[in-house]
Amino acid sequence: MFLTITLALVTLLVYAVIQYYRYVARYPKGETPLPFIGNYGELDFVRQHVGFERLSKKFNGVTTVFTPSPIVHLRDFEVIKEAFIDKGDDFIGRPQNKLFEFFSFAPNGGVINSVGDNWREQRRAALSILRDFGMGKNVQETLVQSAVADMIEYLEEMDDKSKVDLHWPIQVMVVNVINEIMFGFRHKYSASGPLLKFLIARVFASKLMFIGMSFPFLIDIPFIGWHVQQFVVDNIHRALDNYSTDEEPSCFAQAYKQRMITNKNLDEPNLYACSSDFFLAGVETTTLRWAMLFMARYQDVQERLRCEIHTVVGINRLPSLNDQNNLPYTRACVLEVQRFGNVLSNNVYRETGQSIPAGTMVNADIHHVMAHDPLFVEPEKFAPDRYISEDGKTLKKDLIDRTIPFSIGKRACAGESLAKVELILCLASMVQHYRILPCEGDVIDLEPIALGMLRPKDQNVRLEKAF
Ligand code: HEM
Repeated sequence: MFLTITLALVTLLVYAVIQYYRYVARYPKGETPLPFIGNYGELDFVRQHVGFERLSKKFNGVTTVFTPSPIVHLRDFEVIKEAFIDKGDDFIGRPQNKLFEFFSFAPNGGVINSVGDNWREQRRAALSILRDFGMGKNVQETLVQSAVADMIEYLEEMDDKSKVDLHWPIQVMVVNVINEIMFGFRHKYSASGPLLKFLIARVFASKLMFIGMSFPFLIDIPFIGWHVQQFVVDNIHRALDNYSTDEEPSCFAQAYKQRMITNKNLDEPNLYACSSDFFLAGVETTTLRWAMLFMARYQDVQERLRCEIHTVVGINRLPSLNDQNNLPYTRACVLEVQRFGNVLSNNVYRETGQSIPAGTMVNADIHHVMAHDPLFVEPEKFAPDRYISEDGKTLKKDLIDRTIPFSIGKRACAGESLAKVELILCLASMVQHYRILPCEGDVIDLEPIALGMLRPKDQNVRLEKAF
């Protein structure tokens, strides 16, 4: 009897293992996973991209890592282009997770995590509203310039500039831009207590997001995520409380509410979800924080950048987008900041429609492309010069094409144009006004804190007036 049971169990196990490897064989080749747990033991849970890099190294182009769920990594620029552009419609989904539902205010709500027709409708409507409010146009530039001017005024008023943590001033500046677009008002530096509370909760929430990807039930603990949501809800109420849809809208939330009358795809839950998606994505400052630290660390780059800005723009006005054509080194610096300081070690995952097989999670590994594509010579060096052609003026298109921090295709970042304006105007204005230096005796630490995103460690810099 015992022998029969053991034999049956062994047969069952052998059958299950054979089935498992049949299942594995349906996916692009990768490091051989162990039965059932996949490559779990070889993952790096804190520096996820390091684990993925280790497991994918031998497989150029396309590889699968079993976490134990299969995630297909597209690691080559041409392969990502083929998937996200040539076969774009088949790579347009997002994996669904209870966690996303919580942050989306509604099942399949908003833009970042929604799929299918609702994603299409919400993205189209949101971008159309944002265009009405000047996204990609001069209005947006004026808004960013004015938020940057406020930030510089705040820095000017600091008595002691020998130890400045730029995290907070940059954060308020960036929040004010997106806040004004989404909800029609700004925060004052001097009265930003609630904002600070929200930002602290947001950092916890992003940690929770990270853990929640593996353990979604944690989201049911109604604490941290609630804080983040409540801040967004309060902002929406402030924008809508005294608004009547007969009036001309003055911000995203009001315009969305007004369009709900004529567009049946727009409703209250999606108003909250879209506002939350754009606001939360739009308050991210990590790239600008990296930019300041790179300037402090690479003084030769900063000096050359300042020289270009002072020559072209002078010191009596802030840099504007019209200056861009005459600022090739500044543009090259922004590209190199985004390449070298890429903040999304894993892209936002997509899900396939029909291919690879259907319903597979896909990571277009933009981090790998920007850190290893052979067109970037000595990619481990911070060298804005790499982008500048021999004529000293034009930028190299093939390198720009491979600088893809916003990803590519129909589902690429919906805030790209705003983020680019913030990056160039903030970096150029800061370097125009200040020498950004390490504090006395300090060495700038560029080792990232990796937890979902690659963030710089909080550290002070010394600001010296540059004119
Ligand atoms: C330097 C700053 C930023 C970076 C590096 C960045 C990067 C990205 C990336 C890689 C994606 C995923 C795209 C894909 O699935 O292929 C994304 C999506 C998105 N981003 Fe950004 N982003 C930035 C700033 C912003 C800002 C300022 C906003 C809002 C104004 C924003 C709004 C969004 C939205 C709504 C999506 C979801 C798009 C969709 O699923 O259709 N992002 N972003």
